[in-house]
Amino acid sequence: IDGTLPSFDNEDTEKAISEAALIIRDTDETVAFPTETVYGLGGSSLNDNAVRNIYKAKNRPSDNPLISHIASIDQLNRTIFNDNRVGEGLDPLRNIPEIYHPLIRKLWPGPLTILLRVPEPTSLSKLTTVNQPTFAVRMPSDPIARALIAISDTPIAAPSANASTRPSPTRAQHVWHDLQGKIPLILDGGACSVGVESTVVDGLCNPPKLLRPGGLTFENIVSLGGEQWAQCQVETHAKKNEQVRTPGMKYKHYSPSARVVLLVPAQNNNNSYYTSNDKILVLQNIIKKESQDSKKIAILTTQQLDQMNSKDLSSSNEKAQFIIQSLGTTGEEIQANLFATLRQVDEEDKVDLIFVEGINEDNQGLAVMNRLEKAAGGNCIPF
Ligand code: TXA
Ligand code: MG
Repeated sequence: IDGTLPSFDNEDTEKAISEAALIIRDTDETVAFPTETVYGLGGSSLNDNAVRNIYKAKNRPSDNPLISHIASIDQLNRTIFNDNRVGEGLDPLRNIPEIYHPLIRKLWPGPLTILLRVPEPTSLSKLTTVNQPTFAVRMPSDPIARALIAISDTPIAAPSANASTRPSPTRAQHVWHDLQGKIPLILDGGACSVGVESTVVDGLCNPPKLLRPGGLTFENIVSLGGEQWAQCQVETHAKKNEQVRTPGMKYKHYSPSARVVLLVPAQNNNNSYYTSNDKILVLQNIIKKESQDSKKIAILTTQQLDQMNSKDLSSSNEKAQFIIQSLGTTGEEIQANLFATLRQVDEEDKVDLIFVEGINEDNQGLAVMNRLEKAAGGNCIPF
């Protein structure tokens, strides 16, 4: 968190990052860049016009606030808190409430986003916070992201670089698919290692809350955050009559064009009750009911359906073609492959129906199931 810069032994990489950094620092334009979670669509957090261009390029509802990305605590102090003080004995974390300190020390840089009170005065564009009293900030660990933020010396407002409602991009080609012609530059850093967005937490309320499950697990936060975070509550759905805490959670999201059906493992499901064969029989019945109008169907497997092949399925719909694709077996693998696989079967294989074998909601399962429930938009079947 001290702002030590990564170095690249490739001149083209350095040139591309410098070019992107100048766009961020000196213009109203936006650039797409890799982070360890998903690709971001970045513009200066300090420039209203750049922030407007972010909303415009991805067609994002303007009441959904943005995360500011920083490369060091020093940069956060100088550029958002207007605090330029230097000197021995000054705590670098002086502008950040104490409750966040253990999380920041252990988990930044990384996929953790925290909410802070907007300072008065601040240079932060009001459009990034949508006039809320808080702003969201994170320090990504991806070296290209960190170099871009540090070299531009600008906090970068960046939502995921997908067109609004689409699955988040975890490869440069996903950004190209959604935003070509709308932005001047995409930095291609290969596949994102985490594959889902950062975890958003609110430590300004008591008890603290997890507002969006993401790349850092709830279990990580509870075990690493100290006493106060041991009481952390998960609040991803607003209760009735309550304002949505994380505005992004209320919109249609992560949706392929194909219809998605999520197969939800029963609560406290002890999968050992069922053999893979039992599960395949259950799936055959579900396919019979759900797929009569479909011509091309993808089945994304995670656990018990891994042994299945198309022959097992053709009897449930003889007219349809089946694609069976594993998302992986560990939580990390499933998380890393999730959006890329949804996009692949949707945009390349052009299936019209996607069944996904869900997983239990512990560890990475919480973020994975949160994204899949949105992608399925309510088409959830106990499995
Ligand atoms: O991993 C990530 O977080 C990626 C990469 C690019 O860093 N960014 C990302 O941004 O996912 P976006 O805009 O797609 O999601 C930001 C989420 C939204 O759900 C938004 O509502 C919430 O953070 N958010 C932002 N500012 C907030 C605030 N002040 N209070 C509550 N929620 C906030
Ligand atoms: Mg997003």
